[in-house]
Amino acid sequence: MKEKNKINWSKGDHKKAIIEQRKNLWKEDTLKMIADWLPLKPEMIMLDVGCGLGYNGFTYWKYFGKNGVYLGVDISEDLIKEAKTLAKEWALGGKAEFKLGSVYKLPFKDNSADITICQTLLMHLKEPKKSLQEMKRVTKHGGLIVCVEPDNLSNSMRIGYSSLPELTTEQKILLHRVHFIVYEGHKKLGFGDYAIANKIPKMMSDLDLYEIDIICNDKCFFLIPPYETEEQQRIIEKIQKNINKKDTKDYYLEGFKDKFFAGGGSKYLYYKYKRFIKEHNWKAQMKEQLSKKSFYRFGGASFFYVIRGKKK
Ligand SMILES: C[S@@+](CC[C@H](N)C(=O)[O-])C[C@H]1O[C@@H](n2cnc3c(N)ncnc32)[C@H](O)[C@@H]1O
Repeated sequence: MKEKNKINWSKGDHKKAIIEQRKNLWKEDTLKMIADWLPLKPEMIMLDVGCGLGYNGFTYWKYFGKNGVYLGVDISEDLIKEAKTLAKEWALGGKAEFKLGSVYKLPFKDNSADITICQTLLMHLKEPKKSLQEMKRVTKHGGLIVCVEPDNLSNSMRIGYSSLPELTTEQKILLHRVHFIVYEGHKKLGFGDYAIANKIPKMMSDLDLYEIDIICNDKCFFLIPPYETEEQQRIIEKIQKNINKKDTKDYYLEGFKDKFFAGGGSKYLYYKYKRFIKEHNWKAQMKEQLSKKSFYRFGGASFFYVIRGKKK
């Protein structure tokens, strides 16, 4: 099954993202708090839409998996195949099953799940509300609909502080301007809305869900020399790999030029930005500071939300 403009999550850096990035996503006590707040209970049936490798299954299994059921559905045949194998390790004491299918036409009957969840799925869809409607259909009355989605527009604009030379106000405005333009282009070209989290509570309300509530991930990433923790080591390793690659960008900057012009950017601004990036050469500066163990970075928590509603 393929959809136009869709990222293939079963290959390359995209696949790495749904493995590597997931390792550092939450603090264990936050997950417990989320499980209590939802709440998750043993014997629940959890339906995970756009499940990828089954991340929500193995993350929350201990809270619902004792005699519970996890049903993962994804559009990628490759990921479903691999998820089935991985689940043999974590799905102990309950049942984990996977199905090939689209979020727009879920292969489940009405009112079949106690909780229907998705993570970083709606942000990639052309019609997120339609998908949410379908998630509602398959959820039992009184059951939970849960969306774990980011506001990556705000994330891309966080200021924070790092040991790299500080930018001037004009330079910061230039970067922010470009981010706004690329964000519009990303949506216009059909890649979805990576700030979707902000709109989900309203969508849930429009769909007549009740007890809508939101939790924000409190995990903060930072690098402080000499990078003592395992997590910092992992981040450094990732940065070093990226520095050595010629063309590594965040996923939303992929196809930058097309998105920039589709988002209404001018030629003048495009070349101004390119010149600025070239002159600034962040990668070389970071490389040097990392080799001297003097690179420091802190940007606060990211805007990554768990949004919950109940079906009447
Ligand atoms: C960013 S990945 C997230 C995977 C998983 N939820 C996680 O957090 O690790 C997005 C997933 O949505 C799936 N997907 C994209 N469009 C879909 C659609 N129309 N129907 C079902 N799954 C879809 C992709 O194949 C991919 O596995």
